[in-house]
Amino acid sequence: MAVILDGKATSLKVLDKVKERVSKLNTTPHLVVILVGDNPASKIYVNNKKKAAEKVGIKSTILEFGVNITENELLSEIAMLNNDNDVTGILVQLPLPEHIDKNKIITSISPKKDVDGFHPENGGKLLLGVEPYFYPATPQGILMLLDEYNIELDGKNAVVVGRSNIVGKPMAQMLLKRNATVTMCHSHTQNLNEIIKTADIVISAVGKKIIRCKMVKKNSCMIDVGIFRDNNGKLTGDVDFDIVSPTCGFITPVPGGVGPMTIASLMYNASKVYL
Ligand code: GUN
Repeated sequence: MAVILDGKATSLKVLDKVKERVSKLNTTPHLVVILVGDNPASKIYVNNKKKAAEKVGIKSTILEFGVNITENELLSEIAMLNNDNDVTGILVQLPLPEHIDKNKIITSISPKKDVDGFHPENGGKLLLGVEPYFYPATPQGILMLLDEYNIELDGKNAVVVGRSNIVGKPMAQMLLKRNATVTMCHSHTQNLNEIIKTADIVISAVGKKIIRCKMVKKNSCMIDVGIFRDNNGKLTGDVDFDIVSPTCGFITPVPGGVGPMTIASLMYNASKVYL
């Protein structure tokens, strides 16, 4: 039976370290979270971020805008926040309404306040192997969890399933930086199961029950980024826990795995101040 990678417990350890780090700063970091519209999931995520910030001594403000805010109005709000020396971090909760160009908004955030690490300057630096101001929170949190359990990455076969800008793409780059051999899989990948069988580490960020092959590699590590409700309304992830856990060596639960690590990792980012 696999070892459960306890994201909840590890996230509390990370938050403690962040709290200590914040207490030693000569300034109080201030994270501004922008929420547009009334997506219920986004509201929950944003409130969780605020609660975590309070816990570690980071000031946080949620700026809520109606779904009809124009792109230009949002751009001018961000310009004001970029110029405000009291604000050290800016996060625009995604998704945004369709009439707003997400990439334009992300690009308008100062890279030095881009705690999500989504700005092209931060993403570009990650690709070039140059230190970005911020690494995206989910992949960074996953690496913190793997490190907590001393899971070796150097020279290992890592398979990333899902090619999103938020998780899959930065995850692959960060694993490469740690000298893993990285395979990217996505909706057009053929023989996914054959590829999964070769993996020492699987990181799945799809949002569908996609990792259900019995023949995973012995002692491999399964990281499940997916979180959604099954037909019975129960929270579940991409990995079929019951099928995979007897063979693999390590597995993240859903919930209680990657989710809490993402928040803790975001708080680590929010504790970094570049003024
Ligand atoms: N929506 C889903 N995940 C994320 C994230 O990591 N950051 C932001 N800003 N929005 C999201």
